[in-house]
Amino acid sequence: MNIDSLAKEFWQQGYLSIDNFFDIKLMDKYQTHIVEHFGNNPDFVHNDEFLKKSNTDVIPWFPQLDGLNDFDTAEKNQNLVHLTEAILGAGWSSLYSMVMFSHQGSNGQSWHQDCPPEDKSQFNLNRLVYSMDIDASTGGEVLVMPGTHRLGPITVGDVNEDFPEQITLSPKKGTLILIHGHLWHRVLPATGSHRASTNYRCCPAGAPEDITDICVYRNMRYQFSASTVIEERTL
Ligand SMILES: [Fe+2]
Repeated sequence: MNIDSLAKEFWQQGYLSIDNFFDIKLMDKYQTHIVEHFGNNPDFVHNDEFLKKSNTDVIPWFPQLDGLNDFDTAEKNQNLVHLTEAILGAGWSSLYSMVMFSHQGSNGQSWHQDCPPEDKSQFNLNRLVYSMDIDASTGGEVLVMPGTHRLGPITVGDVNEDFPEQITLSPKKGTLILIHGHLWHRVLPATGSHRASTNYRCCPAGAPEDITDICVYRNMRYQFSASTVIEERTL
């Protein structure tokens, strides 16, 4: 793996997708934990207004906070650590691992940026680990707009607009996807029985821990800690 050329590609495109990054046996362990957890615990934590406006119905779970040490393994993967360091530089920090789960029929997630893009030094990096194949048969593919991490706030418009420049990512079991928090990205509706990925979010030195508290959609800015739409975005 050429870490330097991957880091360069990341900074040009705002994302990377690398198949066969993680061990399949480890991914099977992850998937077993995830299915067991969500089989027993289908709670939503976001409020109705958010779910409606953001077109999101993803259920988060923080397995490391529940003491599941298996989820430390991907975080300690040396290729991942070195690639992260090459992208973010010294002093970066891990935030947490968050499993994002959706049931069949989930709307996915509309176009958004994970945090306000006005200050280019303030961003999060999503490190998405896939413990199942995501493709046309399961739905839930990830859409990205290459290079948009450099363009400032996402344009106002249709929350699920199709753009000619968009790229569809169909990660397989063991794939790593990296997404810059300022990159426009979106998740298609889940049509299979369920969809899950695990996000090892991190951020560069100088970014606060609550960097992703405010999310920018094409129709609003939403603050998670206050469960509030802080800005309506209209044409
Ligand atoms: Fe996101």
